[in-house]
Amino acid sequence: MLVDLSIGMSIAARPQYLETPVSDSVNRQFILTRRPAGLPTPEDVVRRETPIPEPGEGEIVIRNLYMSLDPAIRGWMSDEPSYLPPIPLGSPVWATTIGRVVASNSPDFSVGDIALGLNGWEDYSVSSAEAATRLEDTMGLPLTNFLSILGATGMTSYFGMVDVGKPRAGETLLVSGAAGAVGSVSGQIGKILGCRVVGIAGGEDKCRWVVDECGFDDVIDYKACDDLTAAIAEKCPDGVDIYWENVGGEMLDAVLMNLAERARIVFCGWISTYNDVEKRPGPKNMWQILAKSARMEGFLVSSYVAQFPEGIAAMGQWLMEGKIHFNEQVVDDLDNALDAFHMLFDGRNTGKLIVNIGDFDD
Ligand SMILES: NC(=O)c1ccc[n+]([C@@H]2O[C@H](COP(=O)([O-])OP(=O)(O)OC[C@H]3O[C@@H](n4cnc5c(N)ncnc54)[C@H](OP(=O)(O)O)[C@@H]3O)[C@@H](O)[C@H]2O)c1
Repeated sequence: MLVDLSIGMSIAARPQYLETPVSDSVNRQFILTRRPAGLPTPEDVVRRETPIPEPGEGEIVIRNLYMSLDPAIRGWMSDEPSYLPPIPLGSPVWATTIGRVVASNSPDFSVGDIALGLNGWEDYSVSSAEAATRLEDTMGLPLTNFLSILGATGMTSYFGMVDVGKPRAGETLLVSGAAGAVGSVSGQIGKILGCRVVGIAGGEDKCRWVVDECGFDDVIDYKACDDLTAAIAEKCPDGVDIYWENVGGEMLDAVLMNLAERARIVFCGWISTYNDVEKRPGPKNMWQILAKSARMEGFLVSSYVAQFPEGIAAMGQWLMEGKIHFNEQVVDDLDNALDAFHMLFDGRNTGKLIVNIGDFDD
């Protein structure tokens, strides 16, 4: 698939990664060997070294440069019914990667092309040409941007807010995971569309960033808060018109008690539950959905892939106008992938979490 990412940005000189020689002689892979109970351990996700693969008919080999770490990967490791089949045991853990084509048996890709797709936690991935997206023009932007603000993460915020939340000027938007990759951008889109935006994040530094850099109107530090229901009531005195749901659990219960009439909950994720070993009881306060004639709607960014060019154009415009700020946290070396993955669940990540697989020593 070819995506036209032209958003009117200037095109810089030939990027350095195209000149980077491929020096590795083995393919490091992180293999899912058993379904994790709780946070995945090195016994669940095992490192191995294999030969660099060859492409079959219609396939390409990608030298992965960067890999996106997403909370959803934890769900793909489990065998609970979901929107994707589980990662098969014995296979590399899946992730969206961006890399350079080093071998091609397809007329659609040449060696040196930049390819993006759902691949593995590995140095080299074999992909069918059909499943990969060729980035024709990276506009001189860092490749990591195509995993963050101009990739699925930014598009989650864009389509979740514009198509599901449908904010109206003057409404109160409450965002959980507000300092995270998705939440921080969702809140800023809400601001652009005229909402009063309140975030919920963990810790002083994250809360400061949400207000000072991202321009949220207010923020709640849930880690320093004894009574989240009361804190939301104080910060959202007219009730919550739109709740961007990234977290679930007790946080959702506290928000439910603060809904405005005809509130909408944009159900993006439930990260607080992803490592539960036992299923926890459902939200206690769901009755409020009826009491407030409210609505809760789930969505998947994958449903919007055909519309990504529209979302990328809008996001690119806002970036050029300085209306959107975002953070990327790039962890060096594939060997650190599992520890880095834990950062999503203990809150150590600040912004979009990416592993630099291929060119960290350039
Ligand atoms: N529907 C879709 O298509 C779609 C697509 C992408 C992502 N998502 C969802 O969007 C959410 C955010 O993903 P992201 O990639 O942007 O990650 P992220 O927010 O950058 O990182 C995860 C953050 O979640 C917070 N967190 C983790 N465990 C928590 C807990 N038990 N209670 C409260 N907060 C907790 C931490 O922030 P604090 O330090 O503030 O606690 C952590 O930094 C996830 O739920 C993810 O599954 C959905």
